[in-house]
Order: sequence, then C-alpha cells, then structure tokens
Amino acid sequence: MKLQDLLAETARKFSSCGIESAQADAEILLSFVLEISRGDLLAKAVTGEEILGDQLDEFLILAERRASREPLQHLTGVAYFRTLELKVGPGVFVPRFETETVVERALQLLSEIPVAKPVVVDLATGSGAIALSIAVERPQAKVFAVELSEDALNYTRVNFAKYAPGAVLVQGDLAEAFPDLAGEVDLLISNPPYIPNDMIPIYPEVHLHDPSLALYGGSDGLDMLRTVAERGLELVKLGGKLVIEHADMQGAAVRQILLDLGWQDVVTGKDLAGRDRMVSARR
Ligand SMILES: C[S@@+](CC[C@H](N)C(=O)[O-])C[C@H]1O[C@@H](n2cnc3c(N)ncnc32)[C@H](O)[C@@H]1O
Repeated sequence: MKLQDLLAETARKFSSCGIESAQADAEILLSFVLEISRGDLLAKAVTGEEILGDQLDEFLILAERRASREPLQHLTGVAYFRTLELKVGPGVFVPRFETETVVERALQLLSEIPVAKPVVVDLATGSGAIALSIAVERPQAKVFAVELSEDALNYTRVNFAKYAPGAVLVQGDLAEAFPDLAGEVDLLISNPPYIPNDMIPIYPEVHLHDPSLALYGGSDGLDMLRTVAERGLELVKLGGKLVIEHADMQGAAVRQILLDLGWQDVVTGKDLAGRDRMVSARR
C-alpha cells in the first residue's frame, strides 16, 4: 500500500474517532513502525513509496489500538518533553506540554538564586520529566525526586539512568520524603495530582490510561497542592522558591493556600494557551 494513501486513510479514521491530532498521530505511528524520522516518512510518501508485509500488519494493529484511544505514547513507548525523550507506558503519567512552561518558570527562578549548586526537589516526579529537565538544563543543580508508584518507577528509573545518574530518586510519599533536606532546598517544584475526584477527564486517553494516582487530588482537587505547599515550608530555605502546577480553575484557591501559610511573592503563571497553570512563591 502507498504510504501517502495509508497516511490519509489513517488520519481520516483517527479524526472520526475524535482524535484531534489525527494527521500528526498517523505520521508519528507510521514513522515509528518504519523506524525512520517523520521528515523522512513524508519525503518517502511524496515519492510514492509503499509499505508491505509485516510492517503494514504491525502498523494496522497499532493504528487500531490508537483509534480505540490508547495514548500514542503508550504505543511508541516514548514521550518528548523539552529536550528529553522519556520512556513511558502503562502505569506512568505521560508528561504534558503545559508542564514544559512550569519547568521554564522554575529555570527562570533558579537563575535568580545566587547559589552555585542549588538544591532542587521534585515532589511526585512520575516519568521524571521535571526533575530530569532541570538536571539536564542546569547540570550544576543537585536534583532530588520522589515518586510513590512502583509501576511509574519502572519507567522513572530508566529515565534517570539515561539522563541524570547522579540525581537522587526515591520511592515514597511526598508528604514525608526527604526529611534530611529540611531547610536546605533552594527550589521545590511539583506537578502533583490535582483533578477533583468526581471530575472525570473528557479524553479517554486520560481517564482510561493515565494512572488514577496521578490524576485525582481529593474532593476539591487541592489536597496534594496543600500538602506540597506545607512540605515546602519545611524543606525550602528562607528566600528559596516554590513552583507548583495546578488546574486552570485553581489559581485563586492555590494562591490563597500559599498566602495563608505565609509564602511571599505569590504569583500565578500562565501556560502558552493563556490559562492559569502554575503558582510560584518565595519562602
Ligand atoms: C500529574 S502526575 C505528574 C508526574 C510528573 N511530575 C509530570 O509532570 O509529568 C502526578 C504524580 O504524582 C504521583 N503521586 C501521587 N501521589 C503521590 C504521593 N503521595 N507521593 C509521591 N508521588 C505521588 C503519581 O504517581 C504521579 O506520578
């Protein structure tokens, strides 16, 4: 079958299943099966090349799974996040594009901290997207991360070994992790679960395939955000910074939590779509 025709047919199918990024997903999946870049795939498609035999069979099976709304990243085993190519799959939260702007804010705050080797802690690290971006983009930082889920850690450990073998990754509850770092942390960052328990996300990729532990944060979604803000008081040194990701409708509530706890310079930041996405503060 001609690549061009297969791409068009698959994109139409994905689109009819409600996948917004239908064309891109078809291209990424096909380039994954052919083990070539997306650019090379498009070049081969315009010159009329074909896909045959086992590769076609493999692609059709994966396309069927994508059409039933399995996340693209679970099929390819890879999530791209800033400069990283992270191993992901069932059991770990797929890092989101919005979180890249949260890392951007953290890096900006880090650049304002006059410490040669700042101590950075990522609470609820998932695949390691945040912690590893900081470790790679600020190699002088001393990075610590905690994750509760053993299923997630199967991926996190691989990603840490690849990108930051010197960073510290522990399994545990963010409510108790790193007692030895009390008062030592220059920057605390977290993207904890923050969806209210009764608010089921609309995308099947999320509510059927992201782990529940990664999504839900209590009746108002604020439980873990509160815990992170409280842990920050213990961990972050005076003058140190905090950045927490939250849902777009939680900006005012999270600011209030931080102000009530005595955090200074409490500022809401937006994602690239202009929605409230994070809060930063100074201890
Ligand atoms: C929304 S995901 C974010 C993952 C990653 N930080 C990212 O931005 O891609 C939240 C993560 O918190 C973890 N988690 C939930 N409760 C936790 C707890 N009590 N202690 C540590 N991690 C927890 C989940 O397993 C999940 O990996």
